[in-house]
Amino acid sequence: MLNISVFGMGYVGVVCSACLAKKGHQMIGVDLNHTKISMINDGMSPIVEPELEEYLSSAVKSGRLYATDNTRHAIMNSDASLICVGTPSMKNGDLDLSYIRQVSENIGQVLAEKEDKHVVIIRSTVLPGTTRNVVVPIIEHASGKKAGVDFYVAMNPEFLREGTAIKDFFEPPMTVIGQMHAEAGDFLAKMYDGLPGGFYRNDLEVAEMAKYIANTWHAVKVCFGNEVGVLAKNLGVDGRDVMELVCNDTKLNISSAYLRPGFAFGGSCLPKDVKALTYRARSKDVSLPLLSSIMPSNNRHVQHGMELITKQKANRIGMLGLSFKADTDDLRESPLLELVERLMGKGYELKIYDENVSVAKEKGASKEYFENEISHISNLLNNDLREVVDQSDVLVVGNSSSHFKNMLNELAPSKKVIDFAGISKQLSNEQYEGVCW
Ligand SMILES: NC(=O)c1ccc[n+]([C@@H]2O[C@H](COP(=O)([O-])OP(=O)(O)OC[C@H]3O[C@@H](n4cnc5c(N)ncnc54)[C@H](O)[C@@H]3O)[C@@H](O)[C@H]2O)c1
Repeated sequence: MLNISVFGMGYVGVVCSACLAKKGHQMIGVDLNHTKISMINDGMSPIVEPELEEYLSSAVKSGRLYATDNTRHAIMNSDASLICVGTPSMKNGDLDLSYIRQVSENIGQVLAEKEDKHVVIIRSTVLPGTTRNVVVPIIEHASGKKAGVDFYVAMNPEFLREGTAIKDFFEPPMTVIGQMHAEAGDFLAKMYDGLPGGFYRNDLEVAEMAKYIANTWHAVKVCFGNEVGVLAKNLGVDGRDVMELVCNDTKLNISSAYLRPGFAFGGSCLPKDVKALTYRARSKDVSLPLLSSIMPSNNRHVQHGMELITKQKANRIGMLGLSFKADTDDLRESPLLELVERLMGKGYELKIYDENVSVAKEKGASKEYFENEISHISNLLNNDLREVVDQSDVLVVGNSSSHFKNMLNELAPSKKVIDFAGISKQLSNEQYEGVCW
């Protein structure tokens, strides 16, 4: 049994408090709103949420939960505090952190007089860096104490959905623990002990951002499904049937495939099919803002890669990989080919190593494509990987061919690597830059 105080008895705080009490912990809820405090102490739910009132009333009856407006009492009688106050939008869309700042100040003032080490856990949704750069300095300043020495900090985003909050609490898809200090992470692991779904410990900022990305991803999925529906209806197809079918594929469609940060997509299918579909929508006057933004987003990413290379201020560029992914010679719509052409246009000295493309140039089905469409690239291809590396100042790793890994491990310190494929983690920060990591 753990002693826990919860700051903010809103949707998140009240559900957490009732469910953690059910798990056997001793809970103290803190809020400024006296109506909420008295409702909770009477065993009544201040919000509409299935099953919540039963959980609350049994927690209050058994003495495992009560609410107060007394921050000092709550901190002094608990080992950890969960911060669940609101983080609403401001007019310009930015996050309003005034409740977070206020509650951090309140907690800090009491920690000044508390001898035992306390754990502070942020459950509110906050942008990356907020816990470390806003919450911790306020608590340190107000308490005169040091994070990691006198109190421990973690960030534990909440993923529950209103309407199914109790079920979501006991059956989470995962539990995310962003820990500034292992002691705070250990506290959370003990607090949630027994819940299914797996516990994932990370840095504070990864946990903070994961919450935003999960919600943004859900928003993208809703808009994607809706745009498919609108287009399908205009084409005389039932979009619900289409998505039912598409969702059956859990290998590529409903899976983690294609969701890792990396370089732009290319190849003979994705660009062609996205363009054809959005063109058909345009020709029918169907507006699809999300689907229409895919090609511009992809092109912007190629430009981003270009900017990364040009900012190195080096003239000799070695491209390791030219086709859009390893183990293929297909150069159609390769974003790397696009990049090479832009670099050529700017007068860079280029060397390209791609074993599959080199073979195709000599004898494959792409021979004709080489001769007719991209003859200007042919003489940049070099079959000797070592020579390409030796004669370049900046190496751009375009795909994850296994040949490149060993070569990069023995690299001269003067050479810089721009990694588009996520293959090299061994090099120092001075020598290495990922395309978007
Ligand atoms: N509502 C959801 O479904 C949900 C789900 C996941 C995450 N979140 C996030 O959780 C956070 C809380 O959301 P919510 O919907 O529960 O908010 P809410 O507005 O319902 O509740 C916040 C509570 O905090 C109280 N409060 C404000 N300042 C306080 C202080 N100094 N001391 C004590 N109490 C104080 C308010 O009186 C209010 O009761 C937000 O960051 C939100 O984005 C919400």
